[in-house]
Amino acid sequence: MPILKAEKLTKTYGLGEIKVHALKAADLSIEKGEFAAIMGPSGSGKSTLLHLLGGLDTPTSGKIILQKKEISKLNDKQLTLTRRENIGFIFQFFNLLPTLTAEENIALPLVIAGKHQKSYQERLDMLINLVGLEKRRRHLPDELSGGEQQRVAIARAFITEPAIVLADEPTGNLDSKTGRGILKLLKQSAKELNYTVIMVTHDPVAASYADRVIFLRDGAIFKKITLGGEDDTAVIIANLKELEA
Ligand SMILES: Nc1ncnc2c1ncn2[C@@H]1O[C@H](COP(=O)(O)OP(=O)(O)O)[C@@H](O)[C@H]1O
Ligand SMILES: [Mg+2]
Repeated sequence: MPILKAEKLTKTYGLGEIKVHALKAADLSIEKGEFAAIMGPSGSGKSTLLHLLGGLDTPTSGKIILQKKEISKLNDKQLTLTRRENIGFIFQFFNLLPTLTAEENIALPLVIAGKHQKSYQERLDMLINLVGLEKRRRHLPDELSGGEQQRVAIARAFITEPAIVLADEPTGNLDSKTGRGILKLLKQSAKELNYTVIMVTHDPVAASYADRVIFLRDGAIFKKITLGGEDDTAVIIANLKELEA
């Protein structure tokens, strides 16, 4: 039973004469504990797909089923609640609140949900430990490096124990060594803690950390490949060439 399923997912932007078919009948199935990457040229529909899966936008047609619940037919209010409880987000530019410390940023989704510190202290400590920020927990974002800020964002995404975590170019604003640390952390989270992560990236090295790569072309799924072979990065590059041909 997949944790997330999309059926014939379609998104058309614009009204009247000028329509953009950003996503065309995409089918997708993600298992719990999977680390999946979405790749494709600029404008191929990656962000659109991620936004639909995360309930940030609603599809024109098609279904999204998250943990047996069809989220594609929820109203705005229900969707906001589902998003808050079941979906974590990691962005390219971290999106931390500058006046809150690292640990306050991580706990924020629970504070917003009205939870008391006692109920989440243990989980907060576990996640701070996981992302390696024990010595930085009382620092403000601008006292942290880019990689450390992204670690805060990762812990924040996981704090609510969401069903899925969605990441749009999470290493896009980091140097490659720091980015690799972040990718290892995402992979470790999926493998050791059974978290489910879906990441958009244009970087073949970043995608090589995933279990599976879903390639998009012109709003349609072009191919899905399973990784774990000798040279995943080379396989990904070859597929990107095929896709752009
Ligand atoms: N809000 C929008 N209104 C109209 N067109 C959009 C909007 N968002 C995205 N598009 C179009 O949809 C297509 C897919 O965009 P996007 O999902 O952002 O692609 P990617 O993330 O792969 O670069 C592009 O042609 C883009 O211009
Ligand atoms: Mg995009």
